[in-house]
Amino acid sequence: MQQAPAKIILFGEHAVVYGQPAIAVPFTALHATVESRATPPGTGLTIIAGDVGQLLHVEHPLAGGEPSGNALIYAAQITLAKLKAPLPDLSLEIRSTIPVASGLGSGAAVSTALIRELSAALGSPLQGDALNALVYEVEKMHHGTPSGIDNTVIVSGAPVYFVRGQAPQPFQIGTPLTLVVADSGIQASTRESVGAVRELYEQHPDSFGGYFEEIGALVKEARRYIEAGNLKEIGQLMNRNHILLSVLTVSSPLLNRLTGAARDAGALGAKLSGGGRGGNVIALVMSSTADQVAEALRGAGAVRTWMTTVETLETA
Ligand code: PMV
Repeated sequence: MQQAPAKIILFGEHAVVYGQPAIAVPFTALHATVESRATPPGTGLTIIAGDVGQLLHVEHPLAGGEPSGNALIYAAQITLAKLKAPLPDLSLEIRSTIPVASGLGSGAAVSTALIRELSAALGSPLQGDALNALVYEVEKMHHGTPSGIDNTVIVSGAPVYFVRGQAPQPFQIGTPLTLVVADSGIQASTRESVGAVRELYEQHPDSFGGYFEEIGALVKEARRYIEAGNLKEIGQLMNRNHILLSVLTVSSPLLNRLTGAARDAGALGAKLSGGGRGGNVIALVMSSTADQVAEALRGAGAVRTWMTTVETLETA
């Protein structure tokens, strides 16, 4: 069985599509898992989306025809093509605790776990850059023009400072960050919010280009404060990032209400995270205020909350 975590964007979503840096971390409280089982000869490759009870049959990518329009089938097909493997007799069962269309990287986590499990079952486990490149291909199907931040942080499993087209930079977290993550309960398409921002950028290149640059500068500043462990400043930058995301039109009255409620309950800062217009907000808290912030978020309309601590992974 293989798995992959969800992810949280701490700073820089949307501007990252235009070449600005962003900071993302794995969110290990939620994950996707894929388990393979050998099936009788001649049965081919099937994918069982366990949570939704969907059963999919994978055709071999070299059998001709158009690439599949289904992201799960496509992930399996490009893995077979990459490994030049014949169609195996196998079932792949997917389970995920990550809410879909919520800015938590559900699509990239499922693709990562699926490609890990399928390639391992074929005897050639894919990892690192090779895995990341395949997951990015599937992300294009989900998102149109993804920056690559979701697949990069999920495949690496470590906090990343990310600039589109460049190798991700790992960085230190000076003081662990305690975050409350709150689900607005509203599913929103990242493809649509990214598309809407692009349209506005094309209509107003100077002002939107300026907002992206402002976000990029803020992300660079945030990295320094995260490395130094300066929680108060990190919180203030989250608040500023949220305002700039609102200016990009990707917030909503509900997301503004949730972030406001978190701040009123003692959070050091709060912002939407991911594509926006729904999905999740994150609040930076002290452990002593975490419970009251989570309660305030639920009181303001969040359908569920999680707590997570972000820290530098100790490498052996
Ligand atoms: O998948 P989401 O909703 O977390 O959004 C990804 C972040 C964006 O910057 C909005 C899009 C991208 O490709 O980077």
